[in-house]
Amino acid sequence: MAKLFEEFELKGVHFKNRIVMAPMCMYQSDKEDGHVTDWHRVHYPTRAVGGVGLIITEATAVQPIGRISSRDLGIWDDAHIDGQAEIVRLMKANGAKTGIQLAHAGRKATVDGDILAPSAIAFNDQYKTPTAMTTEEIDETVQAFRDGAIRAEKAGFDVIEIHAAHGYLINQFLSPLTNKRTDEYGGSSENRYRLLRRVLDEVNAVWSGPLFVRISAEDYADGGMSPEQYIEMTQWMKQQNVDLIDVSSGAVVPAKIPVYPGYQVNFAETIKKQTPIATGAVGLITEPRHAEEILQNGRADFIFLARELLRNPYWAYTAATELGADIEAPVPYERGWI
Ligand SMILES: Cc1cc2nc3c(=O)[nH]c(=O)nc-3n(C[C@H](O)[C@H](O)[C@H](O)COP(=O)(O)O)c2cc1C
Repeated sequence: MAKLFEEFELKGVHFKNRIVMAPMCMYQSDKEDGHVTDWHRVHYPTRAVGGVGLIITEATAVQPIGRISSRDLGIWDDAHIDGQAEIVRLMKANGAKTGIQLAHAGRKATVDGDILAPSAIAFNDQYKTPTAMTTEEIDETVQAFRDGAIRAEKAGFDVIEIHAAHGYLINQFLSPLTNKRTDEYGGSSENRYRLLRRVLDEVNAVWSGPLFVRISAEDYADGGMSPEQYIEMTQWMKQQNVDLIDVSSGAVVPAKIPVYPGYQVNFAETIKKQTPIATGAVGLITEPRHAEEILQNGRADFIFLARELLRNPYWAYTAATELGADIEAPVPYERGWI
């Protein structure tokens, strides 16, 4: 049996295979109120019909000021729960486990008004210069992640992923390139980790399901973070009940990224072996045999696919055919697979 189709269990949640749909912003909350729309009701359940084991929905803002765009999904209000619960129900009805990525964009927010970050440094001249957060604003943001986790639980999600990658708020605190604070949130790695530590503590207080963190393991810039430097922090994450590190890279500061199939797999392998902890590999993985190689060689535990699942929501069936795995198609589709 192909390892891609081996089952996996985390904190009592059973995953039917190792295929994960990586979070992808859709920018389709067209009333700019963070609410789920018909687009989400069609887009996500389609990947469940397509056989994906775990679908992690897009970066979902815990505060309006933390939206990447005004059309992001939100989880900052109880009024968001019903819409989220509806897509969860539709994904689960079609056989997938469900995850939500709780997010705050920090200095990469493009919403109206002031934006916040650890330090008052703009990403580049296309972005606004953020205001450095006060400790009260940090407290409010930590509370917002807790409230987001409570709402995610009410909506019925199986997994929570904290977005600490791609140069968004938590990543801005973790990297010394973007965190120039001189208080207890800046300087040493313990201090730069403090916001994530508090977020994880608060989420753990209200959430007992599988907990993932997405990191940018490599900053691709002098003085920035590397996978080896992250080990100390991923060990802290493990101590804080985190089950899996979703290992991405880049976008903390403008930098050139060498991109090729599986370009981030080595990072996932380093984090997996040196922490040690379960990891997800992501980034230009499109071929079933490549996915199988990563799993068989113990380089990661889950395969996260993003753009390939936009092109082919039925990738799992393509992969099963190629790897000789026998998987169940939805009953109405069975004649297509005989
Ligand atoms: C349309 C689009 C939206 C994305 N939105 C998010 C997001 O909301 N959160 C996130 O962590 N990554 C996001 N990403 C990054 C993907 O999750 C993934 O890490 C990246 O595309 C590399 O994987 P791939 O080569 O399989 O596409 C997005 C990527 C795309 C193409």
